[in-house]
Amino acid sequence: MSIIFKRKSVRKFRDEKVPEELIENLLKAGMQAPSSCNAQPWEFIVVSKREDKDAISKMHKFAKPAAEASHLIITLGNLNEAKVIGMIEQDLGACNENILLQATHEGLGAVWLGFHPIEDRTLKLKKYLEIPDYCIPFSVICVGWPDSEGEVKLRYDESKVHFDRY
Ligand SMILES: Cc1cc2nc3c(=O)[nH]c(=O)nc-3n(C[C@H](O)[C@H](O)[C@H](O)COP(=O)(O)O)c2cc1C
Repeated sequence: MSIIFKRKSVRKFRDEKVPEELIENLLKAGMQAPSSCNAQPWEFIVVSKREDKDAISKMHKFAKPAAEASHLIITLGNLNEAKVIGMIEQDLGACNENILLQATHEGLGAVWLGFHPIEDRTLKLKKYLEIPDYCIPFSVICVGWPDSEGEVKLRYDESKVHFDRY
């Protein structure tokens, strides 16, 4: 089974720092993603200070895992770099998934916290991290050493697959 079938969201982390070179591997994986017209319209903010992680964990009710993570990777979509603006969410989605898969490969735990397109969330993140208007605060990915092992449930459902016509 490929790494795809081992990935799951991890929301509980051990109190242990992730080495910077592993964080760099996650960023390399993110930047290796496919993107419309190969525009690569992503940028990243890496956050590791306790007070910043605490503040981000309070930005919405599903953001609590941010407090215990070793690092947060904030993924941004740069509107000045995108060639097809309407595709920027897809570009960033591919980038995010690559980061999650690389984290699984490294034995790390990670969870994607949704921010874009919920304005109340993105405005808080923009203000706090001083993100310029030409960047969409797309998501926060929490990264750390997983605190527990969990089962991955396989989801293949043949009723969702159509051949030749719907
Ligand atoms: C766009 C998006 C937004 C998400 N937002 C959150 C979030 O705010 N908080 C959270 O704990 N998990 C969040 N998740 C993780 C999902 O809850 C998780 O992927 C889903 O329950 C399936 O579980 P799995 O990742 O373990 O397969 C998000 C995932 C996606 C793709």
